[in-house]
Amino acid sequence: MDKMKACVFHGENDIRVEEVARPTCGAGDAIIRVTLTTICGTDLHIVRGEYRVKPGLIIGHEPVGVVVELGAGVTGFEIGDRVLVGAITPCGQCLACLSGHSSQCGHGHGYEAIGGWRFGNTINGAQAEFLLVPNAQANLAKIPDELTDEQVVLLADIASTGFSGAESGGVRIGDSVVVFAQGPIGLCATAGARLMGASLIIGIDSDENRLTMSRRMGADVTLNFRNVDAVAEIKRLTGSGADVAIEALGEQATFENALRCLRPGGTLSSLGVYSGKLQMPYDAFAAGLGDHRIVTTLCPGGKERMRRLIEVVRHRRVDLTPLITHRFSLSDIKEGYRVFGERLDGVLKVAITP
Ligand SMILES: NC(=O)c1ccc[n+]([C@@H]2O[C@H](COP(=O)([O-])OP(=O)(O)OC[C@H]3O[C@@H](n4cnc5c(N)ncnc54)[C@H](O)[C@@H]3O)[C@@H](O)[C@H]2O)c1
Ligand SMILES: [Zn+2]
Ligand SMILES: [Zn+2]
Repeated sequence: MDKMKACVFHGENDIRVEEVARPTCGAGDAIIRVTLTTICGTDLHIVRGEYRVKPGLIIGHEPVGVVVELGAGVTGFEIGDRVLVGAITPCGQCLACLSGHSSQCGHGHGYEAIGGWRFGNTINGAQAEFLLVPNAQANLAKIPDELTDEQVVLLADIASTGFSGAESGGVRIGDSVVVFAQGPIGLCATAGARLMGASLIIGIDSDENRLTMSRRMGADVTLNFRNVDAVAEIKRLTGSGADVAIEALGEQATFENALRCLRPGGTLSSLGVYSGKLQMPYDAFAAGLGDHRIVTTLCPGGKERMRRLIEVVRHRRVDLTPLITHRFSLSDIKEGYRVFGERLDGVLKVAITP
């Protein structure tokens, strides 16, 4: 009874499904029995050794589950509640949380860059039968009975992140918005731009399957950057350049193109995770005099963010289920990583059932 199955990171390209100890519930925590989770592009970075976590860590950060234990001090929830928990689990009490930057949570004190991302990063994650949710009072969001696990699981991370690309970019009704890369994050940014009231949404990728999904998620126009000069085409379609360009890949090429296609005074909203050096050619940002804004965002989490996103789905403003293309059991998660990691068979997101 005190054991459970989990996907454990042991080292580069070495993850194993094994029996580990079940978490024990402390004050302020909750334990949930995970009923559905998924694999994130960031998990691929971890498994490939590109983003470092400690060997022995259970990975995964996108949990839907049922509350099985509540620690002292957690009120307003019952054993048996179905809950969604964000990938980012802010404490709700530190300076970062109280100043509205809860993804940079300092755990009860000040600020810590990326501090809100704990699951599968600094504490055990969601690719397991049971999960300890820290600061449960701030992080459990009840799921209405009418919604299935598959309808909400992508809200934990990719939808929250993708939508935030449009929100942080300050998209206004009538804006033209370009989204560079139409992976799961970019597709959700496209959906976010539509939710925010953009009038022209342009999705960029080279994968025709993803460009088709881009139109389904809200793009009016899609461009295959291998066939057209995307920046020139965006300038042609928008007249003077895009109001907002969302970067959803994390590479020099997409960052630079996002900057080049902006109108003067436009906003570059960056979601990608970068490595190495990012360069800013002077002509791309008008030598620093173009009134551009460049903003970055880490996925917003916490129960209020999750509640809002659940409402968006419940009232049918967006349907994310077409993005779940493949399903695996936790025992077969390594196959899920292979299909997702190698982008086989038109995969977008995989659902994992413990
Ligand atoms: N900010 C956050 O909180 C946050 C959260 C999760 C993931 N991320 C990051 O977001 C990024 C995207 O994640 P994903 O899972 O959607 O990635 P993905 O790898 O599934 O998709 C990337 C897409 O980019 C396309 N692409 C490649 N080169 C391109 C180019 N030059 N122009 C346009 N498109 C191009 C590919 O065809 C692919 O469809 C990653 O860097 C990931 O780590 C950020
Ligand atoms: Zn993620
Ligand atoms: Zn905090």
